Amino acid sequence: MTHREDRRAGRADGRVTRNDDVDWDGWPVEEYLAENYREVHPCDAAVIAHHSAVCRRIGPGRVGRAVEFGAGPNLYPLVLASAAARRVDAVEAGAANVAYLRRQLAHGPEDSWRPFHALCRELNPAVPPSLEEALARVRVVHADVRRVPPGTYGLASMNFVAEGVTEDFGEFAALCRGFVRSVVPGGRLVAAFMENMPTYRVGRATVWPGCPVRPALLVEVFGPHTRHLAVTRIAADPTLPDYGHTGMVCLSAVRAGGPG
Ligand SMILES: C[S@@+](CC[C@H](N)C(=O)[O-])C[C@H]1O[C@@H](n2cnc3c(N)ncnc32)[C@H](O)[C@@H]1O
Repeated sequence: MTHREDRRAGRADGRVTRNDDVDWDGWPVEEYLAENYREVHPCDAAVIAHHSAVCRRIGPGRVGRAVEFGAGPNLYPLVLASAAARRVDAVEAGAANVAYLRRQLAHGPEDSWRPFHALCRELNPAVPPSLEEALARVRVVHADVRRVPPGTYGLASMNFVAEGVTEDFGEFAALCRGFVRSVVPGGRLVAAFMENMPTYRVGRATVWPGCPVRPALLVEVFGPHTRHLAVTRIAADPTLPDYGHTGMVCLSAVRAGGPG
């Protein structure tokens, strides 16, 4: 039993696992990449199509700074944002993910990301012509997303984070509110969530906290803080591992209201 499985076992006492209970430094980067991102799965193509449409509407380079909340080792959201933003901050708490991202930027990206870049550029010609040029706009920030100062960014993107880093619905909602507040009022938001995913495994050995969310819950959490909220489902993709989810949900919105 791993450290994290020990924690999960604590749930028998009625305890839920919260974000601070987890050692994010130990995220299994290689297994996660192997399960999710070594090829463009149909669900990736659907998320890329959704986010590309949002970035196309923003226009090339119109945003000074964008943020990727909980970037993990996933490069395609950074490539998508590079079409709309002159700088993209990839904020990530886990040391192994940060090391992976820094290696991709410093020593060149792995070739498995090239088909993702090609699809991003096909759907939005404002994506820089090479993967390297797109990533040149990215800065890796080793930090906790809960510490991102409000009103910092013009565009915020979050993929599979708020619902995949806690079992506590209150904490899930707080992470979503922090995500909304990270942009200025009128700033753009784009996100993807696993639908109905409970606590999940990556590879054979590690267990991570999840919060099963549905489109109606996302409308409830984001609605009071946003305008132009749009939530769309992506059907379950049989080429992905079974994380206990029923599909994915994509979201776009604009932050409402006054100063952060
Ligand atoms: C399910 S993974 C998603 C990774 C990536 N966004 C993707 O699209 O595949 C969740 C990520 O959130 C990161 N994370 C968890 N809690 C965090 C926090 N408080 N601040 C920043 N990153 C966090 C984890 O280290 C992990 O990389």
